[in-house]
Amino acid sequence: MAQYKKTKAQLNQLIADLSQLQVNIQQIHWYMRGSQFFKLHPLMDDYNDALANQLDEIAERLIAIGGAPLSTTHEFIENTGLPDEKVTWDQYSLKQYMERLDTQFKYLSDQYQKGIEITDEEKDFSTQDLLIECHTLIDKYIWMISAYLGRGAQD
Ligand SMILES: [Fe+2]
Repeated sequence: MAQYKKTKAQLNQLIADLSQLQVNIQQIHWYMRGSQFFKLHPLMDDYNDALANQLDEIAERLIAIGGAPLSTTHEFIENTGLPDEKVTWDQYSLKQYMERLDTQFKYLSDQYQKGIEITDEEKDFSTQDLLIECHTLIDKYIWMISAYLGRGAQD
């Protein structure tokens, strides 16, 4: 089905990115060290719960419009725009991990924005509604991490 071709491609982009981001957040959850560990360690679980929910909603919407979600780690790696980087103990400070997370959430926010624009072009407004909801939550996370890092939401 040729309908919503670009929307389907963008949903698969988001599936790859949401999958990789969960891996990267799990890495931060495990590798962070520092005085704020007890607050930030469980926060990573909260982020991943939300991202897992977004991933499932997006994959199921893709299926509902006749698409096929990427579903293997190989496909995620091949398609994601996020890093897949091995780290070692004390390679990054806790603050540096939060900076890296901020950058990755901003990338994800841009991918949602792209999806919102594509769904507008293809008039898939149900998918657009889902993407707007996801985008809004990610922007809220970016604001909160920015506040933690001592700057404004858009800085
Ligand atoms: Fe844990």
